[in-house]
Amino acid sequence: MTVLVTGGAGYIGSHTVLYLKQKGLDVVVYDNLLTGHRGAVQGVPLIEGDLHDEEQLKSVFDSYSIDAVVHFAASSLVGESVQDPLKYYDNNVAGTLSLLKQMIAHDVKKIVFSSTAATYGEPQSIPIKESDQTAPTNPYGETKLAIEKMFKWSEAAYGLKSISLRYFNAAGADPDGTIGEDHKPESHLIPIILQVALGQRDHISIFGNDYPTEDGTCIRDYIHVMDLAQAHYLALKKLEETNESGIYNLGNGQGFSVRQVINACRRVTGKEIKAIESPRRSGDPAELIATSEKAEKELGWQPVYTELDKIVEHAWAWHSHHPNGYEEE
Ligand code: UFG
Repeated sequence: MTVLVTGGAGYIGSHTVLYLKQKGLDVVVYDNLLTGHRGAVQGVPLIEGDLHDEEQLKSVFDSYSIDAVVHFAASSLVGESVQDPLKYYDNNVAGTLSLLKQMIAHDVKKIVFSSTAATYGEPQSIPIKESDQTAPTNPYGETKLAIEKMFKWSEAAYGLKSISLRYFNAAGADPDGTIGEDHKPESHLIPIILQVALGQRDHISIFGNDYPTEDGTCIRDYIHVMDLAQAHYLALKKLEETNESGIYNLGNGQGFSVRQVINACRRVTGKEIKAIESPRRSGDPAELIATSEKAEKELGWQPVYTELDKIVEHAWAWHSHHPNGYEEE
């Protein structure tokens, strides 16, 4: 099976490429390298290109006999999406439109999509189920939801089969330490805390200490990036075997507060890690926890690294050996 992975040089994309390769699939990566890294893709063809470039996309589908697409390429910063929503409609919605046109034109009708918990917005109940209301509170979530709907209508019209995977908080790194997370600028909790441990920042700001949670800080569902990678493989297999579309949450099923994450980082790194209580960040729900029962039942997904300390350990192995990310490579 030959799989085209768009955005395969990004954080979750590159871990998925590694996993698919380990499972013996042929992989071709398409990435504009604006946020992805050449060093994150090893041993498979990497085509530098943008989804908006229909000519180049066409030549990729003409050159390789693609059976299915795993689609990560997107802009993915919640705050930025509020400041510049049209960038998100352009990169995410218009980019996917261009990809789908080429897929349909080349009779490639299977896609696994990198979606997000941000499609739900403020949760109505915990844990969040796939059938819960989707009411995104930012353009990032809105554009990912719009893409899921493009798939639905494209299934009815062209027979496109899709599996959308709604990730909660992706974290950790490949346990072998060869690839990891490298965002510039970094906005995610665990890498920022580890930058404090590395002496690259003075402190971690705790955004809000008066949420209605046990310790007053926000609770999130941190899921290991290799467990996400596994789910993409299983989704491809399911499309291959059953040709059935679906939408699945991918989370750990356990929530951890910001303070618990900081303490886990202190345990794993052995560093003090200064934390300063700061005002809330706007738009943060108090608690986001998934139930992933549907993925477990229908995809046969079994997350392996569910312990918070293990997730942090793998992230720390990467960050401590690559303090400047992929820059030195
Ligand atoms: N946080 C801090 N200090 C920081 C950074 C984060 O206290 O310096 C807190 C946030 O307020 C939040 C938690 O740590 O409560 C996690 O924050 P992240 O920015 O790491 O992640 P989010 O939960 O905001 O967002 C993640 C993904 C989004 C996705 C969303 C889905 O990054 O792409 O989950 O819910 F949309």
